[in-house]
Amino acid sequence: MSSQDTPNQIASPLRPFGESIFSQINRMAIKAQAVNLSQGCPDFDAPAFIREAARDAIESGNNQYGPMAGATELTAAIADDARDFMKMDIDAASEVTTTCGCTEAISASILGLLQEGDEVILMDPVYDCYRPCLALANVTTRSVTMQAPDFALDAAAIDAACTERTRAIMINTPHNPTGRVFTRTELEALAEVCRRRDLLVFSDEVYNRIVFEGEHVSIASLPGMADRTITLCSLGKTFSVTGWKIGWAIAPPHLTAGIRAAHQFITFGSAHPLQHAAAVALRDRSEYYTQLVSDYRESRDLLCEGLRRAGFKFNMPEGGYFVLCDHTHLGQPDDIAACRWLIDEIGLASIPPSSFYANPAQGSQLIRFAFCKRIETIEAALERLARL
Ligand SMILES: Cc1ncc(COP(=O)(O)O)c(C=O)c1O
Repeated sequence: MSSQDTPNQIASPLRPFGESIFSQINRMAIKAQAVNLSQGCPDFDAPAFIREAARDAIESGNNQYGPMAGATELTAAIADDARDFMKMDIDAASEVTTTCGCTEAISASILGLLQEGDEVILMDPVYDCYRPCLALANVTTRSVTMQAPDFALDAAAIDAACTERTRAIMINTPHNPTGRVFTRTELEALAEVCRRRDLLVFSDEVYNRIVFEGEHVSIASLPGMADRTITLCSLGKTFSVTGWKIGWAIAPPHLTAGIRAAHQFITFGSAHPLQHAAAVALRDRSEYYTQLVSDYRESRDLLCEGLRRAGFKFNMPEGGYFVLCDHTHLGQPDDIAACRWLIDEIGLASIPPSSFYANPAQGSQLIRFAFCKRIETIEAALERLARL
């Protein structure tokens, strides 16, 4: 039998997930030379100050393994940032672990803290790596669907979905793909459920610096929550360095123990010089953060106006860099067909979000566009949308 005939070997927990939808759409978009508003990564370069910091970090000899929990300069900068911005009072040495992107922060937290028999509540739609990671840990999931078009966080529905096996809830704010920024009131209601039921919270806050309406609230900052929350963050979205894969997990020492127990055997550490550059990036950036939001607001408004003119229905994103639209006016049977049709007919790539749901039918009338792109790219997308 030639290697071509050898069946693929994939461990059983991963078999249901197949190839990521991002890779599939990217391939189609490249082939069709489509304007690409699919994947959530900028098509412009990172700011000069962070590129310079990376060059300096390499030149000044940080090229061997760093400490397992992260370079001390970086864990200190993360702790200061969390104190100032996220109103969390944390100790860098015992409560911060730097990881290979937020993706590893998610997997190290799940693998280090959960086990077979545990159950986790997900609020669909969810970012696509949560379910495979939980499956690898042999953890079962229950889904509570946030209902379009408002995608409100329904704490009562989450409470009702809990069983005696429920160990944790995973949340994400600002939210990919809905663009929601959960309000303090919504998070307080969820926090009450978590305290009463003694649950952990995995809180993915990678878009915490990209907020247009309202304020970013870290659930760990609410009363009684610091002790039960794992806050998951990343440098990639804030500083347009998604390829660096520098992330971190913030958790109290008794939970950090489990995260580090997994992290030391998954990657041990992310790129050491980039951790030093990240430490420089996180210091004194208030002007940069203001400009970042203002630039993304311009991109959001431009794209949303074009989408509205083209007949899409959606709620304006409050944060992050995605807009989730109803595509039903296109007359396509589901989200995958609508994405294919948009690539083939007008040369515009987007993401079908049904894979973000336990029950794909719940996302089949939706389609996600990313606006973390140059203004020229968005204008090119608008030209294509005008053909509709
Ligand atoms: C909600 C969410 N969490 C985590 C990640 C992954 O972050 P990183 O690239 O730092 O691993 C992404 C990336 O798109 C995301 O949207």
